[in-house]
Amino acid sequence: MNNRWNKLIYWAGAPFYDVLFNAGPFARARKKVFADLELKPGQRVLMVGVGTGADLRFFCGKKLEITAVDLSPAMLAQAKSKSGEDEQIRFLEMDAQDLRFADKSFDLVIASLILSVVPDEHKCMSELVRVTKERGRIVIFDKFKGGERKMPLMMRILRPLIAVMGTDIGRDYRAILKPHLERLIIREDSSAMFGEMYRKIVLERK
Ligand SMILES: C[S@@+](CC[C@H](N)C(=O)[O-])C[C@H]1O[C@@H](n2cnc3c(N)ncnc32)[C@H](O)[C@@H]1O
Repeated sequence: MNNRWNKLIYWAGAPFYDVLFNAGPFARARKKVFADLELKPGQRVLMVGVGTGADLRFFCGKKLEITAVDLSPAMLAQAKSKSGEDEQIRFLEMDAQDLRFADKSFDLVIASLILSVVPDEHKCMSELVRVTKERGRIVIFDKFKGGERKMPLMMRILRPLIAVMGTDIGRDYRAILKPHLERLIIREDSSAMFGEMYRKIVLERK
């Protein structure tokens, strides 16, 4: 996986993305992950790899200071079309592995389906932690390989084929979090959809 390929894949997928990933089980899982998040007016929220803005509905109209970044102008255009005219959201083209924000800039960082997509998930995670304020939260909604066991054979066969479509089904969230655990408290780690595969992980920055 690399940024150039991701840009192409998500340019091609932008018009159809919501039909699959913002409907049915995905829409229900998003509600489960975000609907009960505690939000306070004025908080600075960063949505990393915002895509078509499928999660925006949980944050719009709450007087938050929202910044939304993505590598793909086509996906960002879809997200912009979802934000109300009175909503002051900053939409920026940016690499999630190299965020152009100062350390400790945001109260809440949202990472939906991005750690499984970026070429280097460890770099991306370091950036999420870096830009989160002390006592701020990082909310991850994503798919990972389940548990400690080896991936089933079928998944191992499918993994490289699915990667061509712009996402990796075999990343290990425990390995992604491990280098950061001194700076993070895991507030929640629960299943969000399709058994153990999709997870909701809520982290607090110490
Ligand atoms: C699977 S979509 C998820 C979109 C959205 N967060 C959601 O939950 O529906 C992955 C998104 O990551 C973006 N992306 C891929 N590589 C990226 C990178 N290096 N930096 C920032 N965004 C990236 C893609 O353009 C796409 O919009």
